Amino acid sequence: MDLIFATNNNHKIEEVKALLPVIYKLLSLKDIGCNEDIEETADTFEGNALLKARYLYEKYHLPCFSDDSGLEVMELNWAPGVFSARYAGEHGNHEKNMDKLLQSLDGKTNRAARFRTVLCYIDTNGNETYFNGIINGTITHEKRGSGGFGYDPLFIPDGYQKTFAEMNPEEKNLISHRALAVKEFAAFLSR
Ligand code: IMP
Repeated sequence: MDLIFATNNNHKIEEVKALLPVIYKLLSLKDIGCNEDIEETADTFEGNALLKARYLYEKYHLPCFSDDSGLEVMELNWAPGVFSARYAGEHGNHEKNMDKLLQSLDGKTNRAARFRTVLCYIDTNGNETYFNGIINGTITHEKRGSGGFGYDPLFIPDGYQKTFAEMNPEEKNLISHRALAVKEFAAFLSR
């Protein structure tokens, strides 16, 4: 059964493919010939995930899902949140985003943080269902590790000594916020 995943990120596609029931054939935006950059203009993860999924459903009339994720830091009133990718101004500049986060937490003792994913699924009949994944942890005082992407060098999940960037991908993908949301989604599809 065809299922559109609102992404062209191969890393995400492989990660999700490994977790979904095999009867589902994942189609990326590229696979369906969608070249539009669907803007994330909402101010919540739910809103952004819905925007993308709804756009695709209306256009292609196929079941589809979309995920929106980010880092939330307690001491910063849960910022950067939906602005994670562009925290320092330039979309996707991970180094600058991390530098800004370290500066914002300079001198702060509470470094509790969490990564959160919200996945929005729209089924054949247009019904929306949401799935959440959260992983709690702390922000380091300096960047550590070279794996992963985004804020991975600054995030140590609770119960671990290593940052996400110091883990191998398999290790991170077992416990990540995205994996948790996708596992919930996979269980829903297998009902
Ligand atoms: P997206 O919604 O998955 O594209 O994530 C938006 C932004 O949140 C990314 O550009 C990163 O800055 C941050 N982010 C989301 N997931 C992760 C992760 O697993 N590690 C590090 N940063 C992440």
